[in-house]
Formats: sequence, structure tokens, C-alpha cells
Amino acid sequence: MGMVEGKVALITGAGQAKGQGAAAARALAREGATVILTDKPGVDGASVAKDIGKDATFLYLDATSEQSWTDVVSTVQARFGRIDVLFNNAGMWLMKGLLETALDEYQSVILVNQTSVFLGMKAVAGIMKAQGRGSIINNCSTSGLIGRGQPFAYAASKWAIRGMTRAAAAELAPFNVRVNSICPGIIQSPMLGNPSEERLQAMAASLPGGRLGQPDETAAVVLFLASDASSYVSGADIPVDAARTA
Ligand SMILES: NC(=O)c1ccc[n+]([C@@H]2O[C@H](COP(=O)([O-])OP(=O)(O)OC[C@H]3O[C@@H](n4cnc5c(N)ncnc54)[C@H](O)[C@@H]3O)[C@@H](O)[C@H]2O)c1
Repeated sequence: MGMVEGKVALITGAGQAKGQGAAAARALAREGATVILTDKPGVDGASVAKDIGKDATFLYLDATSEQSWTDVVSTVQARFGRIDVLFNNAGMWLMKGLLETALDEYQSVILVNQTSVFLGMKAVAGIMKAQGRGSIINNCSTSGLIGRGQPFAYAASKWAIRGMTRAAAAELAPFNVRVNSICPGIIQSPMLGNPSEERLQAMAASLPGGRLGQPDETAAVVLFLASDASSYVSGADIPVDAARTA
């Protein structure tokens, strides 16, 4: 019996094979879940789902669009009859400080990183409430735990995720719906771009453990939060950063 046997899990930003969304999908499917990988139009994750196997499906979902959420959630409901797990993972990076950030850039980061999490939680919360069970996991960041050295809009969006996570956790607790966030440190995923080997080594050397995290290492925490092993964990924000923010 797998850790999430029989559960139906929806994951945003899961279309890139080397990203955290795809890693979470692989971990959940390996432990018995049916997984629906999604990503924005233009990022085709069908082959990622195909590699996972028959219990994985790919759908387009622009996480910033309420209509897109309505469409995908109703498709998943019609096809699988329930949604037990939502991993709000979609996000974007903008390496700019306060003085360099234009209003439209700020608003884009807030829309993709923060508004998408609001829309996703809202889209599934009613279904989970009616089911009397559910687990929502939001991908935050260590940029949501500290301010020093963090890009401005990205940090603002990630701090907001922790607030939304706690408010939603308290609101949904009476219905056995849990809401948590993970706060990864520097994870070697497509979000890093294509850094040189030298740059990668410098990033690793700046961390207490001397190495970057891997998508599988955040996926392991997502799996725990999705499973009933975490049945009394809600409203938490869990650093997955090998002591970066310790
Ligand atoms: N890589 C890191 O160091 C790191 C650290 C902490 C937190 N995070 C967070 O982890 C999450 C996953 O990032 P990743 O590291 O796997 O990088 P990634 O770039 O591979 O994943 C981000 C995914 O979000 C998708 N996306 C962007 N806009 C979208 C939209 N409007 N609708 C749907 N999908 C959209 C992208 O297409 C991409 O697949 C992000 O929220 C990111 O902020 C990353």
C-alpha cells in the first residue's frame, strides 16, 4: 500500500521534467496517487506525464486565470470524481531589488506567484470541504522566510503565500482540509536558468550544507504533506533548505 494510494492529486507548473512539480508528480504516482500534471499554455508536459505512466495525465492550466481553474477542476472532477491533493507549485523568478522593479514587473510576479495560489485554493476548497478531506500544499520559498538578500517582488509574493496558507488552514480546519507550505532553499531546477559550473559551485559554497537541493528532495516533503502521515499538520511552513535559514 503506497503512502497516497487512491488519492487524486493536481499539480501546477509541472510541465518541465527537471522541475519540482514533475518531481512531486513522480513521487506521488510512485506512492499510489493518480496525478494530474498541469502547466501554462506553451509548456507541454504530455511527455512528462507519459513517462510517469498510466496514472498520470497532463492538462493545460494557466494558474493566473480563474476561468482556466474552473475548466480544469471541472474536467478533473468529471474524470476522476474527486481532488484530494493540490500542489500549488507554479511560479516565476525576478532577480530585481526594490529600486529596479517596475510596477508591471511587480504585478506580474504577484499574479503568477501569489494570485495563482489564491485562485487554486479557492477552486478546490469547496470540493475538499464537501469530501470532508483534502491537503493543499503551496510552494513558497526561503524568500518567504527572510528579507535579506532576496529579490523584492519575489519575496513579497512568497511572504504572502505563508499568510494565505495560515488563513486558509484555519478556515478549512473544521472540514479536515489541511493547508501547508514548503519553503525550499536553492533547488537545482529550470528556474535557475543555465548557470555556469563555476556559478553553481559558488551558489553551493554559499550554503551551510555546501550543496544545492534537488527537486526530489522537495518532492519528498510534498509527499509527506499529501499523505495521511501528516494528518495533524496544518498551517505550517516547512523550510526545505538544509539550514539555509536556520
Ligand atoms: N528553484 C528554486 O531554487 C526555488 C526555490 C524556492 C522556491 N521555488 C519555487 O518552486 C516552484 C517551482 O519552481 P521550480 O524550481 O520547479 O522551477 P520551474 O521554473 O521549473 O517551475 C516553475 C513552473 O511554473 C510554471 N508556470 C509559470 N507561470 C505559470 C502560469 N501562469 N500557470 C501555470 N504554470 C506556470 C512554469 O512553466 C514552470 O513549469 C516555484 O513556485 C518557485 O518559486 C523554487
